[in-house]
Amino acid sequence: PSIPPCTIVIFGAAGDLTKRKLIPALGNLAKGHLLPDNFAIVGVARASMNHEEFRQAMNSAMQELAPYLEAEQRDWLCKRLYYLSGEFKQAETYDRLQQLLDQIDHTHHTQGNYLYYLATAPEFFCEIIWQLHSLGLVDETAGQWRRAILEKPFGHDLISARVLNQTLSKALKEHQIYRIDHYLGKETVQNILVFRFGNGLFDPLWNHRYIDHVQITVAEQVGVENRGGYYDVTGALRDMVQNHLFQLLAMIAMEPPISFEADAVRDEKTKLLRSIRPLQPEEVLTHTVRGQYKAGTVQDKPLTAYQDDPKVASDSVTETFVALKLFIDNWRWTGVPFYLRTGKAMSDRVSEIVIQFKQVPQVFFRQTSMEQPTPNLIRLRIQPNEGIHVQFGAKVPGPVMKTGAVEMDFCYAKHFGTSPSTGYETLLYDCMVGDATLFQRADTVEISWDVITPVLDVWQSLPPRNFPNYTAGSWGPQESDALLQQDQRHWWEVG
Ligand code: BG6
Repeated sequence: PSIPPCTIVIFGAAGDLTKRKLIPALGNLAKGHLLPDNFAIVGVARASMNHEEFRQAMNSAMQELAPYLEAEQRDWLCKRLYYLSGEFKQAETYDRLQQLLDQIDHTHHTQGNYLYYLATAPEFFCEIIWQLHSLGLVDETAGQWRRAILEKPFGHDLISARVLNQTLSKALKEHQIYRIDHYLGKETVQNILVFRFGNGLFDPLWNHRYIDHVQITVAEQVGVENRGGYYDVTGALRDMVQNHLFQLLAMIAMEPPISFEADAVRDEKTKLLRSIRPLQPEEVLTHTVRGQYKAGTVQDKPLTAYQDDPKVASDSVTETFVALKLFIDNWRWTGVPFYLRTGKAMSDRVSEIVIQFKQVPQVFFRQTSMEQPTPNLIRLRIQPNEGIHVQFGAKVPGPVMKTGAVEMDFCYAKHFGTSPSTGYETLLYDCMVGDATLFQRADTVEISWDVITPVLDVWQSLPPRNFPNYTAGSWGPQESDALLQQDQRHWWEVG
């Protein structure tokens, strides 16, 4: 489908997300001739700027951050950029916005279709939506759509997520709300569905009969950078697991949807998350691990301890690393552990899902090779070096019967070439054509919070005594290895 005439209004347009991701992503869409001629963007923020200054700022941001865009493409976009300076909490801002939108509809023939992008701190979400609502700016009429994209976090826990959803639902219909999880914008994440549901080779094996366990790793090398204020009240479980890792888990483990319609896919994801076995308080102690990094060296560069970050409490007990063991209580996955881990200040930046298959029933070669053959693995490399690797055993050439592990590799860049992407192109495109498949529904968000609530509760009542407990530049605390060792397993090396 092609994008209809419309205006995007970005709240929080003076922030990092706009210049780093949104504007370059729109530039990429323009480059691919995917945006309609009748199109405009309005940036709204507190900073005082006029249209021209905003255009110049965005133009230089594109030159710096999306240098592959040509002047013609940048100009195309800049001609359609507008700026409105105002406080999100003042009604007067929205009166002026309404006038500007009318004027833009007139000049650019954007037909009253509006996409509001809330790139703001979460405390403004409801305020902005309510102000828009009170002026009728979110009302849909025949032939005119109004949608809102919300950046995370969607709440801080189950209760606040519910309150947020309920408040939004008084002004917007669920089909107008697009909750972004930027992991779903990654090609490799979307490809999980094609890999699973488009290949007769793998589909029959995708269950507890053949799969021993699944590992999901999302490791980052960066520390908290300058986000200590946000991070210290958030932690890795809320920042990464509740959203990104659970979305990966849902994609890997969900049942085939009846179609690729948004709700069919989201029904299956929600059902999957609902089937995660709730952790009992005593299981939280044995099935979860938390860590916090101390000073160390990451890729030859020193990184100071988390607690030494200027915006972090010097006795902070916030986790920068989490590992979990979860079970999915359904027909397909009974008895199969899913091990999840994510952390900051780790040895490598890599996101990878490893599926380990069960061994063959009898190992004949054990006597000759002296070692247990390596199990079959499928590695879905989410980032970087995007690709899929299948590991299996082969006979090592020579007179002696010896087995070794070999790999079949599919590498995105080698096969498809690379085209620059911020990861936001598909998400923006989908929202403008009205496809919500890659966005989170209210119930999915709430069930994700529900799953982690027992962990948050136990952790809060039993603060860690051994923080900090891993060195920056390592693979996390020792307990993370022990989590798998107690099941006679180990984390596969990733990256
Ligand atoms: C964000 C988190 O949602 O995802 C950050 O708030 C994290 O803490 C980021 O760094 C990771 O995203 P990516 O795309 O770099 O893996």
